[in-house]
Amino acid sequence: MVKKITCSAIVGAILTLGSSFAKQADRPGDTMPHLERRGKVTQLVVDGHPFVILGGELHNSSSSSLAYLKPIWPRLAGLHLNTALLPVAWESIEPEEGRFEFSLVDGLLEGARQNKLRLVILWFGAWKNTFSTYVPAWVKTSTKRFPRVQTSDGRNTDRLSPFSTAVRDADAQAFAMLMRHLREIDGEQHTVLLVQVENEVGVIPEARDYSRAANDAFAAPVPSQLMKYLEAHQLTLEPELRAAWLAAGQKKSGTWQEVFGRAPLTADLFMAWYFASYIQHIAAAGKAEYPLPMFANAALIRPNYEPGQYNSGGPLPQSMDVWHAAAPSLDLLAPDIYFNDFAFWARQYDRPGNPLFVPETQGGYTGAANAFYAFGQMSAIGFSPFGIDDEGNAPVDLAGITKPGARTDGQALANAYRLLSELAPLILQKQSSGEISGMIMEGEAQRGAKVSIGDYVATATRTGGPAGEGGRIGVMFLQVGASEFLVAGCGDAQIRFSSEKPGPPAVGIESIDEEFFENGSWVRGRRLNGDESSQGQALRISTADLTLGRIYRVRLYRY
Ligand code: DGJ
Repeated sequence: MVKKITCSAIVGAILTLGSSFAKQADRPGDTMPHLERRGKVTQLVVDGHPFVILGGELHNSSSSSLAYLKPIWPRLAGLHLNTALLPVAWESIEPEEGRFEFSLVDGLLEGARQNKLRLVILWFGAWKNTFSTYVPAWVKTSTKRFPRVQTSDGRNTDRLSPFSTAVRDADAQAFAMLMRHLREIDGEQHTVLLVQVENEVGVIPEARDYSRAANDAFAAPVPSQLMKYLEAHQLTLEPELRAAWLAAGQKKSGTWQEVFGRAPLTADLFMAWYFASYIQHIAAAGKAEYPLPMFANAALIRPNYEPGQYNSGGPLPQSMDVWHAAAPSLDLLAPDIYFNDFAFWARQYDRPGNPLFVPETQGGYTGAANAFYAFGQMSAIGFSPFGIDDEGNAPVDLAGITKPGARTDGQALANAYRLLSELAPLILQKQSSGEISGMIMEGEAQRGAKVSIGDYVATATRTGGPAGEGGRIGVMFLQVGASEFLVAGCGDAQIRFSSEKPGPPAVGIESIDEEFFENGSWVRGRRLNGDESSQGQALRISTADLTLGRIYRVRLYRY
């Protein structure tokens, strides 16, 4: 489908269609995908029901070719994904200014629907990993009209400047057209659930843009909208941001360096404000057309990296308040967690008002273990390993040699997703009632972990050597009665139970049954006792649980 429109026509349409559609979306019983507070957590609601995203993100170039994707779609469904995350590039929908081309987008939705998958669309607009390589040629080559981020010695970089309103408006118009098109083709069916606006924004290798517009903004007062936010939220501000503001005298106004000090962090906060304000503009223009939930994702920080070594200005923990103040149209900020300390980074983004969604992360056995923890302990709304095209399919080079770092652990993620999709209705119900928890053991060094489950405490220790990648263990506990729990996860461990609540001091295991999902319900297997439960003293879980599709029903008592 090809559409040609003028800029003023788009702006007019954004205002009229957008507002009428927004009213429509507010009607009671509307089934538009949205985030909703349900009980103790915020959940994604799709077609009137809570939904947990068992996702995977395609490699960057996969969604540029429907032919390339054709054999991949069924593989994704075979991995038990319910949602694929894939990019839509600005250059692919607006090859000439004002001429819109949506046949690729239509084909992506068609492929997803045929394979019973939902989609999260990643808008690769002005930025992808700090660079501006997905913009159309007419933007790329017009460096005067669309100015670049500049280095401190005055050189242009391959990055559009977030201080340019010309860049912002062109990006917003293209994005609004995409969202309008999605409403037209998907407003009823809801194949697309969420939209990511840009990808891993920020600047490198210096901490900020040094273009003239950026220098002027850096020397100008911190916008009053941010100053008001700081004052209104001073008790809950992220500690690093708060410390910088307090150390500089907790001023109510001033330039960026007066308010936040002269340390490198100030340039990061400054860029965060302008990237977030830019993205707010894009998200608002898109939502005016079709108000799907939207988010921005972050490339995380390696230890001891300074702004500019990491993506300065991205939606990182220290600047989340700045992002929330500037971009209220974003529903959440999301971490791309490739590091091994998954729990640490997940916690940074699991905050009041910011439910956890992990759009990019490791797959394989590591991903499987992390997924149990994310959904169990963090009540994540979604989880999505990157490079899902390769999952369970060790990539080889042209000589047939397995590439370094390639995944060789076969079906771990697929098996975990199968279990999680069987448990999904219960997971969603227990997230809402707060009767779910999870534990993780990351790396060989970590020998044990502990978590509260209802009135009890579960303490796990390793039983085997490292299994899977790095010996990761991830477990989820679902409370189904006062003293009854379903336990699902992966790793070789034994789990003992105790209680810190008033009552008889000792906790005994009344029974442990293994269960398997058959014909739509959980069916009891063996009663596990003797050697299989350390003589009735512990639940023993194993890496084989994933392969077997096994969970455990544990009943406790006190004596
Ligand atoms: C993070 C980016 O957001 C992805 O698009 C992709 O480039 C991965 N890095 C590659 O590892």
